[in-house]
Amino acid sequence: MKVHLPVREAILNRRTYEAPAEGRSNKLRLYFNENTSGCSPSVRRALAKLTAKQIAMYPEYQAPTERLARHFGVRPQELLLANGGDDALRVFFDAFVDPRSRILICEPTFPMYRYYAEIYGARIAVTRYTNEMHFPLEAVLLALRKKPRVLFIANPNNPTGTLVQPDAIRKILNAATHTAVVMDEAYAEFSGSTMVPWIRKFPQLFVARTFSKVAGLAALRLGAVIAREDSLSLVRRAMPPFPVNLAALVAADAAVRDRAAMQTYVKNVKRLRASLAMELNGLGVKTYPSAGNFLLADFGSPGPTLFRKLEKQGILLRDRSKDMSPGFVRITIGTRAEMRRLLQAIRKEWKARR
Ligand SMILES: Cc1ncc(COP(=O)(O)O)c(C=O)c1O
Repeated sequence: MKVHLPVREAILNRRTYEAPAEGRSNKLRLYFNENTSGCSPSVRRALAKLTAKQIAMYPEYQAPTERLARHFGVRPQELLLANGGDDALRVFFDAFVDPRSRILICEPTFPMYRYYAEIYGARIAVTRYTNEMHFPLEAVLLALRKKPRVLFIANPNNPTGTLVQPDAIRKILNAATHTAVVMDEAYAEFSGSTMVPWIRKFPQLFVARTFSKVAGLAALRLGAVIAREDSLSLVRRAMPPFPVNLAALVAADAAVRDRAAMQTYVKNVKRLRASLAMELNGLGVKTYPSAGNFLLADFGSPGPTLFRKLEKQGILLRDRSKDMSPGFVRITIGTRAEMRRLLQAIRKEWKARR
């Protein structure tokens, strides 16, 4: 039987997203910005208490939303939960983006903004970070004149690790009279800086957060959008009734109660990030100041060969040679032992390079 499936035009010429290879759990995974220490033990205890009846019920959101809103310092009406940070970004396309609408991004950045834009058939306006990884403020202000539907800014940015200063964000918000401004704060806990307190002043400001990184819940998928109640209610109209699973809620609830675990992880990341930068600089490798749980480094032309050799040894880094310059790599900050293993391997290969 010959059938023609009426696939949307925007999907027609796409390839399927290649999810990372399976069987990575025994490798040194420093390419996904995961919390390689794992979640807090209190999360596992809370998950173990879930009953068969609870699991058989559709989830109830009110009580956990109230507690998580308190964690973010907002009212429950100002918080929307989604199935991971990725999903918390998709909701903006459902709410604001028609086919051929314009969205604005600042590259290099987190690839999901472009990914969704392509799926939704949006036009993508791009401004670029400078070679020194400075945020392109003037270009963004100029591009806002064309009234893109949504502007996505990762803050801190992945992979550059850079932060946009509040002054610049204020200028952007003042210029964004017809644009939803999404500050993607997946790494806010490491930078210590958030725009959440600004939501009541700027109705076009949306802050996206995730529990994958600092709380170490990447496998459970929980993300959040924080915005003024009336703005968020527009986004809610595009949401399914049960977007988030109970295990993720229970885990997040336990994670935010164990502040000490998150604080220890953040403290370790900062310390190990500084020492990794110092060691790499000592080898003559350029690094960029980072406000996330990762570090951007430029190994120059020998980089890609080095990354392949490390991969063969089970050390996975995120090679950004293709979308930046050859030799750029993003390295997740792991545990002290993981950083030691990484540095030993880098030193050995780096000395032997030709
Ligand atoms: C900037 C940024 N935003 C959002 C996410 C999404 O994280 P998740 O879907 O695991 O919540 C990531 C993950 O790497 C990220 O780097």
